[in-house]
Amino acid sequence: MQVRAPLLILPLLCSNALAHTFIWGVFVNGIDQGLFKGIRTPPYNGGPNAGGYANSPIKDIDSIDLRCNVMGDIQAPDTIKVQPGDNLTFDWHHDYRNDSDDIIAFSHHGPSLIYISPDPPTENSFVKLWHEGLYETLPFPQPGKWSTTADIRANHGKMNVRVPKNLKAGFYLIRAEMIAFHEGEVAYTKNPRRGAQFYPNCVQIEVVGDGTVQLPEGVSFPGAYKYEDPGVVHDIYCSTETKTRTAVCTTTYPIPGPTIWSGAWAETTAVPLSPVTDGTVATPWSTWIQNSVVTSASYSDRKTVTVVGTSRYEAKWSTTYQTPAPATKRW
Ligand SMILES: *[C@@H]1O[C@H](CO)[C@@H](O)[C@H](O)[C@H]1NC(C)=O
Ligand SMILES: *[C@@H]1O[C@H](CO)[C@@H](O)[C@H](O)[C@H]1NC(C)=O
Repeated sequence: MQVRAPLLILPLLCSNALAHTFIWGVFVNGIDQGLFKGIRTPPYNGGPNAGGYANSPIKDIDSIDLRCNVMGDIQAPDTIKVQPGDNLTFDWHHDYRNDSDDIIAFSHHGPSLIYISPDPPTENSFVKLWHEGLYETLPFPQPGKWSTTADIRANHGKMNVRVPKNLKAGFYLIRAEMIAFHEGEVAYTKNPRRGAQFYPNCVQIEVVGDGTVQLPEGVSFPGAYKYEDPGVVHDIYCSTETKTRTAVCTTTYPIPGPTIWSGAWAETTAVPLSPVTDGTVATPWSTWIQNSVVTSASYSDRKTVTVVGTSRYEAKWSTTYQTPAPATKRW
């Protein structure tokens, strides 16, 4: 990677207003695997130029970033070993990994979805394991009970899924996602300042054991979602207000993507969780991306960032499974 000499010093803007959410840890049968272990964490600080091409959420659903978020092609150094039938709990957070964290802004109503694909994904390889959308309508002005806010946020970021029964051994990616509709009444392509916000995040797992079940054909990311889908452009206020705004007014919300695979568990049950084993605070991310330009920086404290160089970034998904490189700085 080409890095130029120190360029300039900029104040680190607070990224909190952007309300990014991503997975900070994975519990396997209630046991924490550690901070960011096995997770393809997107860049999360936003950087001094936090506007424009955001690190997350993804709003362009035709972008490769819809697959596993920005830099989702870059492997995490470790992979979480699981068996068919194991209960996984994804621990979504925003600023820090504890119960004071707000997870996702209270206004970010929307569905949550979980897919699985062999690693690396191929054409139509993502299979849906679980989803939850608007699960209770309430009279206006209440927004109704949505998965992201009334379930995941209310439960301190905990999202549960069970490894499919008898699933064949191998390397898989689990793509977990939250979608926020506070600006989702218009397609991003029609108004780039608005549009639904997609928060996908991928977790690397290795399924062990002597399972025999292969995943069926699924969908591709990008590809699975279209701007014409009623679950991709949806007016959450309209749906409770019965007043026509930009989108069709409806009190039901059709979750986007395919139906849930019949091989997935019908119920996902929360299991008791161990305390977290690592830290609860993330190191400030030292890169950010805007229009495929990666800016690398160093932090002298949590307030000052020194830009040390820039490089180009383009997602490069391998077509064959690659053993992750040991932990190093990613940039
Ligand atoms: C996963 O959770 C289900 C439901 O609580 C439980 O019956 C099952 O034993 C759990 N699996 C493991 C491997 O702990
Ligand atoms: C969570 O972590 C933050 C940041 O370190 C801290 O301010 C807060 O008090 C912590 N909350 C709990 C419940 O531990």
